Amino acid sequence: MPNHNFTLAEGQPVADPSVSTTLPTIGGGSLTTLGDTILLETLAHFNRERIPERVVHAKAAGAWGEFEVTNDISSLTSAKFLNGVGKKTPVLFRLSTTGGEKGSADTVRDVRGFSVKFFTEEGNHDIVGNHIPVFFVRDPIRFPSLNRSHKRHPATNRPDWTMFWDFHANQQESVHALMHLFGTRGIPDSIRRVTGFGVHTFKMVSADGRFRYCKFHFRPTQGITHFTEQQATRMAGANADFHNQDLWDAIAREDLPAWKLYVQVMEPEQAETYGRALFDITKVWPHKDFPLIEVGQMTLNKNPENYFAEIEQAAFSPSNMVPGIAMTPDPMLQARMFAYPDAQRYRLGVNYTQLPSNRAICPVFAPFERDGMGTMTRNYGGEPNYVRNSLGTGIPSQVISDVRHTERIAHNAILGQNEVVVDDEDFLQPRELWNRVFDEPERRQWVSNVSETLEGVPDQLKDAVIAMFSKVDPRIGQLLDAKAKNSSRL
Ligand code: HEM
Repeated sequence: MPNHNFTLAEGQPVADPSVSTTLPTIGGGSLTTLGDTILLETLAHFNRERIPERVVHAKAAGAWGEFEVTNDISSLTSAKFLNGVGKKTPVLFRLSTTGGEKGSADTVRDVRGFSVKFFTEEGNHDIVGNHIPVFFVRDPIRFPSLNRSHKRHPATNRPDWTMFWDFHANQQESVHALMHLFGTRGIPDSIRRVTGFGVHTFKMVSADGRFRYCKFHFRPTQGITHFTEQQATRMAGANADFHNQDLWDAIAREDLPAWKLYVQVMEPEQAETYGRALFDITKVWPHKDFPLIEVGQMTLNKNPENYFAEIEQAAFSPSNMVPGIAMTPDPMLQARMFAYPDAQRYRLGVNYTQLPSNRAICPVFAPFERDGMGTMTRNYGGEPNYVRNSLGTGIPSQVISDVRHTERIAHNAILGQNEVVVDDEDFLQPRELWNRVFDEPERRQWVSNVSETLEGVPDQLKDAVIAMFSKVDPRIGQLLDAKAKNSSRL
């Protein structure tokens, strides 16, 4: 075994960090002393080694990799990392469950978070998406309630299906996401075989200032596979970290996980008449109307050397966008652009962008952000600490031509977006999913998956849930009703 010369954190030599210094006492026995710095530092640092876990998406696996352009889309976006076949960009990937805490089981039925940070020459670009294409709510103010209803009951401290269904029966725009969640894809059998969706509508802006709306999609090259409820429950007991282990082992044996990246593109003229689904993340854009355009491939090739430093301290945010990709009027996207950096300042400190996993690989010059706890850089030395100065950095001069574009917002798409009203349109795509995408075994499985969660739910709420799914298709209501009656007879 190699020998190490240990030191204190400030470099002073330490003889043996596994033995504290004691002084013999006159009456026998010994005393530790306040002069034993290594003992004090060891205990004090241990007391401070936990940081807040993410308020959602706390349990995850992560890895490093590379993105390579396979189809040039420079006519659609000026973003340099998407231009030029063969162009390679380093990435950091993190795949999470949503509701469980940091120590919870991997193989639960839950929406998976799908985060990718592209370290580009124009700064970091993040896609912070999910493994299903739609989300539960379209008004950001409902996000905290949504998540609390999926987490622990305030009194029993246990997850609670009554709370879960009560939220959704009263917020029926989530019906589309629920159809996905309780379908086979609700429990992936491997991180390597999940889809990833940017979910929101973004804009891609080309060098000539033209823009198109777009959605991002990742599809795994190793196929899409899942666990049944029974397999997943068994695995959660046998190996709560199964997905973490599977990803790690695959990378270690060089069976490298990969995903193809695609975009769907909508011209602004089409958007004018497209209606609410343009910016409503409870809806998809049908592939037949907006086919997938291949962009490139992401391959994971390196496990983290230290999970805490590289994955726990990673900070992904939809606000990290490079020139050539832009936000849209989607209120959920805009709220998220605030929420993530805010959460990261709380979780990691105000200088979290200086941490190794978040540091841009291009030159950074942001002297308007200085000082603060944990400053790790030279902090811009003596540069003036105000902008528009005539002493040091001078007047801002950079022209970023391609971020300026004129968007004629399709008014019918955003008006009324946040209203609580749920109408027939909200049930159309769930109906398509049930009738055209699910096959009969999947429909039966879906009914069984939902039924199990309804078992302890009060009758009135159960009826409300069955009524909600009956609006997707009356047959769902009949099947759920029959299951409920069967189980109450047992
Ligand atoms: C994590 C808020 C909607 C995907 C988080 C975190 C917050 C948050 C505070 C923890 C961030 C951190 O500590 O680093 C919100 C709010 C939303 C919203 C306020 C709506 C208004 C969504 C949607 C998606 C999503 C629509 C998917 C399209 C994720 C993912 C993570 C995450 C993947 C984990 C990021 C990581 O890997 O570190 N969210 N979220 N969230 N959220 Fe959201």
